[in-house]
Amino acid sequence: MEETMTPLPVTLESEKKLFFHNYARLPVAVSHGEGCWLVGDDGTRYLDMIAGIGVNALGYGDKRLSEAISRQAEKLIHASNLFMMPPQFELAEKLLALSGLSKVFLANSGTEAIEAAIKIARKWACQFGDPDKNEVLSLSNCFHGRTYGAMSLTAKPQYIDGFEPLLTGTGMINFNDLNDLEEKVSAKTAAVFVEVVQGEGGIHQVSQEFIDRLKQLREQYNFLIVADEIQAGCGRTGTFFSYTQVNADPDLVCLAKPLGGGLPLSAVIGNEKVVDVLTYGNHGTTFGGNPVACAAGIAMIKAIHDDHLMENAETVGSFIRDEVKKLSAKHPQILDIRQYGLMIGITVDKEAKYYANKALEKNILINATSVNVIRLLPPLTINMKEAQHCITTLDEILTEEKQAATTTE
Ligand SMILES: Cc1ncc(COP(=O)(O)O)c(C=O)c1O
Repeated sequence: MEETMTPLPVTLESEKKLFFHNYARLPVAVSHGEGCWLVGDDGTRYLDMIAGIGVNALGYGDKRLSEAISRQAEKLIHASNLFMMPPQFELAEKLLALSGLSKVFLANSGTEAIEAAIKIARKWACQFGDPDKNEVLSLSNCFHGRTYGAMSLTAKPQYIDGFEPLLTGTGMINFNDLNDLEEKVSAKTAAVFVEVVQGEGGIHQVSQEFIDRLKQLREQYNFLIVADEIQAGCGRTGTFFSYTQVNADPDLVCLAKPLGGGLPLSAVIGNEKVVDVLTYGNHGTTFGGNPVACAAGIAMIKAIHDDHLMENAETVGSFIRDEVKKLSAKHPQILDIRQYGLMIGITVDKEAKYYANKALEKNILINATSVNVIRLLPPLTINMKEAQHCITTLDEILTEEKQAATTTE
């Protein structure tokens, strides 16, 4: 039967026939990528300011990455965690050196890293003998993932509605609200999860005061601070971990997205407090720490350092911020800009999707998040010329919008 089947064309219509309707895909079938440019199957070149939702830190077609993947794929694609696999060891050593922490657990996706962190936090809290010390808190406006634990820590109703009941023993602290923080944490708290720069929530950085108070309260109540670096980590904000910028001193750190250079890979890194929490059989995953993904991760981390991509993130990111600020002087549609390396949020006066669609018409891929925030997460390799092209196009879109509004008045 299979031989006679004619494949459906790769169109939105076929997509509707084949898949559950959980993604709002763009009307673009992609063929390949070159640097910061994604190429459609009709040859159209798009400047990619989304980078696979913050995954493609090296852009497309990096030979060091594809060679590391091919080399490892030829040797061994999978063996399972019954065995010791050299790429896992090398990657773990790198992550420990970068973080100064003590132990690593490898998984496949961001949400799985969060699940592992929740489990580690709860089991860690067990040792204190209080059966109520199991509360896991997060901050309003946050996003931690789609599986039940991670979803229970996630703020947006659109991700949760209809899926209740959520995990019990979870709760939310108002973002950057010191009074609420003091009210919510207690001796029952096992962990507080923090995205130092909230991504899905619209690119907002947690305040220094909030982090300082959180650390004081950790002393008082003995809980863990978990940094969700899944979107902001791996150099995106100009430092390898965004938490170092506010000296958050986390007990657990979750990484994913760019970690596997585009292959599924995530990590939980923990400090001395949690080194003995997981014991044999407690937790695991068949694919976690896949050797090909780890080889890609090693190449990716090396390239970030060799190519000074964290410095580039800060230089090009600041340039974009300054240029958008200039644009805001002539385009009142821009309300605010927040920039942390190449994690950039531009608040606009209407649904950001409008601008994402207009940009797509001009072959630039930008992303809308948090209703009225344009989110830019370009590859860390983006250069000034490409950044300027994005700004010029944004200027054009905003100008055309004003012109259209005056002609209809
Ligand atoms: C901060 C943060 N945490 C967790 C996740 C979940 O990661 P994944 O989609 O790999 O499960 C995401 C994904 O966007 C994220 O941005």
